Parts: sequence; structure tokens; C-alpha cells
Amino acid sequence: MEFDDIETIAVLGAGNMGHGIAEVAAMAGYDVMLRDINEEFVRNGYEQIEWSLDKLAEKDQITREEADASLDRITPVVDMEEAVGDVDFVIEAVPEKMDIKKDVYGDVVEYAPDRAILATNTSSLSITDLSEVTERPGQFCGMHFFNPPVRMALVEVISGAHTDERTLELAEDLAEAFGKTPVRVRKDVPGFIVNRVLVPLMNEACWTVEDGTATMEEVDSTVKFDIGLPMGAFELGDQVGNDVTYHVLEYMNEVLGEAYEPCPLLEETVEEERYGKKVGRGFYDYE
Ligand code: CAA
Repeated sequence: MEFDDIETIAVLGAGNMGHGIAEVAAMAGYDVMLRDINEEFVRNGYEQIEWSLDKLAEKDQITREEADASLDRITPVVDMEEAVGDVDFVIEAVPEKMDIKKDVYGDVVEYAPDRAILATNTSSLSITDLSEVTERPGQFCGMHFFNPPVRMALVEVISGAHTDERTLELAEDLAEAFGKTPVRVRKDVPGFIVNRVLVPLMNEACWTVEDGTATMEEVDSTVKFDIGLPMGAFELGDQVGNDVTYHVLEYMNEVLGEAYEPCPLLEETVEEERYGKKVGRGFYDYE
């Protein structure tokens, strides 16, 4: 496939990342099929895109016409055949569980045209393992966006063991067309580049509070004012989603060893469903 042949993109999963990726794709002029497993999830994602586009228009970062045109390019759907039946590119952003992702790809390959390139927004899972359920592993790669996609400039493009060079080039070109900067990840290791570095930082912040060295606020102030990150470690955890961070760590722990053992403080947020900003409470309260 030539890059200019890419016109329609399916984004699977309308959650935190999925709706943001769909928004970015629509703003770049692509027709987008936004799919989730029920009407409510798709509607929520669509409404968040509407909110975000309004916000960007209010701040004159885009025109009102651009906001309306972007929204018009997005078709919310539940049916998988309708979602991927005639698309050129699929970006999957469903929950960070290998079984769920494999199930989704089982359906995708049944309906997606042979030409379609398949990408996963996984934060850490093996691209090679996922590619092997697609029957077209050469056309499969990782395309990892950051939260919030509309604001974050980087996209990791990850090669699995079977990924064709052409697939990686198309994914990189697409990231650039979205106005992002792609970075090639050459080895399919848990966490890739960003999460390999960032997730241990968030976990270590939890251990620092857990062992009584400092409070969350003290850690966050230090991280912002001394290390110079735009958000504190706990603020970032709440932004990313504590469930996401926890699943990434669990997987890194399993594959890379005990240095990545999740801190109980993080585990508690998941047990108590304090997933972060998306549910109004995490390490901090947002209600
Ligand atoms: N669309 C439109 N507007 C949005 C928005 C969205 N999706 N999300 C937030 N905003 C708005 C807010 O509502 C706020 O609006 P008001 O000013 O009207 O209240 C405004 O944006 C805040 O923007 P600012 O530019 O004023 O704030 P900022 O300078 O603090 O920037 C930020 C915000 C870009 C998120 C910045 O804090 C930042 O870069 N944080 C780090 C984020 C990060 O590292 N993300 C990656 C995490 S790792 C990951 O995602 C991968 C993984 O797999 C776990």
C-alpha cells in the first residue's frame, strides 16, 4: 500500500487513549471509525472528543470549522464488521490485557481487508505475541501514543519479530501526518522506551511514600521543581490511569524481574478502583 492510499482508520476502544487517537486522526483529515463494545462506551468517547475539540476551538488552537469538520469525520460504531470492514489502517486501544487484545484481533482479521495495516497502542505487551494471532504479522506493529494524545507529541513505533520494514515506515508516516514525532523502538521489550523509564519512576515514587520517606505532595513537588517533569509522579499516574500503570508493571515484573514489583500503594488504588482522573479519584481527588 502507498501512504496516500490511507484514507480511513479504525480506532478500536473509545476509552482514554482510543478517543484521543481518534480525535488526532480526524483532526489530520482522516475518516475514523471509532468502535467500542457497547453504545455507552462509544458515546462517552465521542462526547469526550466533542469536549476536547470545543476546548481547542475556545482557545483558538483550531477554528470552530475545523472542530466541526473533525467531529463529522468520526463515525461511532459497535459492530466490528462495520468498524473495520473497509479501512486502510487499524489502531487498537482496548484494555491492557493480552487475552482481551488477542480476542479483538481474532475478530479484526475476520473482517478487515487484506490491505489493512494493524497497529496496537499497547503500553508494554509483546508486539510479536500479538502479531501471531493476526494471520498477517508482517503488517502488524506497535504504535504507542501518550496521554493525552491531542497534546503529547511523541509516538513510539515498535517492531515485532515479524514486522515488515514497510509497515514501520507507513506507521511512522502516519504519526507524522498526525503532527506527531515518531521514535522507532527496535526491540520488543516490555515497556518499550518511555514506560521502561517512566513506570519505574512512578513505582519508586510510591515506594518513597510507602516507606515513610516523604508525602505524595513532597514527592510531586520534588519531581516537578527539581527533576523538571511537567507533572508530579502521582499526578502523572492519575493522568495515565493507575490501572494502566499497574498492568504495565505487573507485566514488566513477570518478564524483567523483581526490580519491577508493584508497590502496594499502587496496588491499593486499583483494588479500590481509584483509577485516576478518568474516574474522578486516584492518588488525588478530582471531584
Ligand atoms: N483536549 C483539550 N484540552 C485539554 C485536554 C484534551 N484532551 N486535556 C486537558 N486539556 C486542557 C485542560 O482542561 C486545561 O484547560 P484549562 O486551562 O481551561 O483549565 C488545559 O488543557 C491545561 O493545559 P495547559 O497547557 O494549560 O497545561 P499544562 O501546560 O500543564 O499541559 C499537559 C498539560 C500537556 C498534560 C502537561 O502537563 C504534560 O505534558 N504532562 C505530562 C503528560 C505525560 O507525560 N504523558 C505521558 C504519560 S505516559 C503514557 O501515557 C503512556 C503509557 O502507556 C502509560
